[in-house]
Amino acid sequence: MPVSVGVMASGRGTNLQAIIDAIAARSLDAAIKVVISDNPGAFAIGRAEKHGIKTAVVTKDQYPLNEDFEKKLISTLNASGVELVALAGFMRVLSPLFIRAFPMRIMNVHPSLLPAFTGLSVQKKALEYGVKFSGCTVHFVDEGVDTGPIIIQAVVKVMDDDTPETLAERILLEEHRIYPQAIQLFSEGRLEVKGRKVFVHGVARGTVDEPLSLENPLATIFNSSPSKKTRKTR
Ligand code: GAR
Repeated sequence: MPVSVGVMASGRGTNLQAIIDAIAARSLDAAIKVVISDNPGAFAIGRAEKHGIKTAVVTKDQYPLNEDFEKKLISTLNASGVELVALAGFMRVLSPLFIRAFPMRIMNVHPSLLPAFTGLSVQKKALEYGVKFSGCTVHFVDEGVDTGPIIIQAVVKVMDDDTPETLAERILLEEHRIYPQAIQLFSEGRLEVKGRKVFVHGVARGTVDEPLSLENPLATIFNSSPSKKTRKTR
């Protein structure tokens, strides 16, 4: 049976589109029962409508009290028979009231390698910090902000000439790859949460020729002459 998913999105909805496309390509066994936005102008709503998916707009203007707002979100998701809530660029922090309605049944995608760089503008924060790698994380949502148990992460190299926009673009490609994968693992009942850790059952080990570590810049740097710039500053 495909898992019944409710997607919540505030903006352009490219992650929603990746989930829709993965379902169409049959690499994801899921059914999107409803797409909810807190933003009436969200492009995500149009994407859902184009694919005949039920939509709902629930705004803070309609429900100024956070408790009422979240109760409306919960009742909309429950009325649609949603088993898993997928946050896809939903730009609001959800309170314990909402989180407790779907314990370990809410996923989020975040554009950094958590726990580094929580919150907003994280690609800018990663560049300013000078990290050599960034990436993205799909995690279950708990009562903290970007703190829930991690399901999948993908690593993206940071380039010297990256801007927040170019880095965000490359990270987004990885988000589109790993978010449907994480939902598929949930759908297959292969995710087990024990404390902070998510165990993925049934992974065939030793079948992929993966390096045990990554380096950026590449190790081949040691075959070339040391940088004059570095020498001068010593
Ligand atoms: C994505 O990069 C997602 O990781 C981020 O918002 C973007 C939404 O893009 N979410 C967060 O920062 C949540 N903390 P999309 O609307 O095209 O899917």
